[in-house]
Amino acid sequence: MILGIESSCDETGVALVSRKGALISHALYSQVAMHADYGGVVPELASRDHIKRWIALTEAVCSQASVRLHEIDGIAYTQGPGLAGALLVGAAGAAALGCALNKPIVGVHHLEGHLLSPLLAPEKPPFPFVALLVSGGHTQLMAVKAVGDYALLGETLDDAAGEAFDKSAKLLGLGYPGGPALSAAAREGDAKAHAFPRPMMKELKRDGDLNFSFSGLKTAVSLAVKRAQIAMPNANTCGAKEVFFEQSSAKIIADLAASTEAAIVEVLVAKAIAACTRAKLRTLVVAGGVGANRVLRAQLTHEAAARGIAVFYPPLELCTDNGAMIALAGSFRLESEGVRDYRFNVKPRWPLGELKPVLVAP
Ligand code: KG4
Ligand code: ZN
Repeated sequence: MILGIESSCDETGVALVSRKGALISHALYSQVAMHADYGGVVPELASRDHIKRWIALTEAVCSQASVRLHEIDGIAYTQGPGLAGALLVGAAGAAALGCALNKPIVGVHHLEGHLLSPLLAPEKPPFPFVALLVSGGHTQLMAVKAVGDYALLGETLDDAAGEAFDKSAKLLGLGYPGGPALSAAAREGDAKAHAFPRPMMKELKRDGDLNFSFSGLKTAVSLAVKRAQIAMPNANTCGAKEVFFEQSSAKIIADLAASTEAAIVEVLVAKAIAACTRAKLRTLVVAGGVGANRVLRAQLTHEAAARGIAVFYPPLELCTDNGAMIALAGSFRLESEGVRDYRFNVKPRWPLGELKPVLVAP
C-alpha cells in the first residue's frame, strides 16, 4: 500500500492506493473558500493550511481503510511543479513520516499524477495513448507509450485552458475558482451569442500545429464584457464580494460564459482528435481539472466516437487535485526510485520530459 500526499496548490489530498494501483481510500480538503475572498490562491495561506490539514487527512484515510500506519509500504508526495511553500509541506510530511516508520519515500511529478489518474477508473485505458492534460497551469497533448515515456505533441504558448476559464470567469464577475463557476453560468446561455476566436485553429488546418494559445481569448471576452457594459465587481477588492445582476444582466453573463466555454472546448477537442490521428492512436485520455467540464466531455466523446477513438477520464472527483493520483504514480515509481534518505527538496518548476521511464511493466 502506498500513501499519497498532494499539496502543490490549494487542495490537500491524501490517499491510500494498493501496490496494484487500486484506490483504497482518499480524503481531500479544499481551500477554495479561504482563497475566494482574494479572488485567487494566496501562496502563504495555502502553505499554512496544508500544515493544518495533512495529518488529520492521513488519519482519516487510514481509519476509513482500517489500516495502521506501519502497514504502509511507502509514501509518495508531490515534489513539483507547484507552489514552493505548499510543496514543502507535503514533502516534509512525507519525509517525517517515512523516517519515523522507516519506509521509503518517493517524489512524484504532479502532472504525471494527473496523466495516470484515468487508471484509477473502473475502465482503464490501455497503453499507448494520447493524453490531453488540461489543468489550471498546463495544457499539453502527449503521446504516452508507457509510464514515464511521454512525447510532447503540443502545448500552450501562453495561458493554460484552466487559466482561460479562470480569467474569463473573473472578467464576468463569477469569482474563484472560475472553471466550475463559468461552466455553471454557461448552462443557461447561448454558445453562439458571441463569435469568440478559436486560437491556433488556422495553424492546425494549415500545418497540423497542435499548440494552443488562450491569452487572446480573454482579451476578446474582456472587450465583449465592456461592450455589454455590465457592472463588474472590483477585481482587486479583498473581502466578501456579492454581485447582484438584474435579470437581463444574468442572461448577458450566461451568453458570454457559454460562448467562452464553446471557444475553449472547440479548440481542445479539435487538437486532441488531431493528435490521435497524428500519433496513429485510438485511445485518448483526458486529465486535469478542466477534464471535469461537462461540455468538453460531451463534445470529445461525440467527436471521438465518430472516429473510432475511445476516450477515458478519471473518476469525476479525481479530475482535480487529489492524493490518489499521487499515490498511484508513486506506486509505479516506488520500487525504482523510492529512498530511505529523508532529506527532501521540491521542484516548483519541473518539465515532465525530465522524468525517467519506468522500465518494469506495472
Ligand atoms: O488540475 P487542477 O485541479 O489543478 C491544477 O493542477 O492546476 O485544475 C484546476 C483548474 C482550474 O483552472 C479550474 O478552473 C479548472 O481546472 N476546472 C474547470 C472545471 N473544474 C475545474 N474548468 C472548466 N470546467 C470545470 N467544470
Ligand atoms: Zn493539478
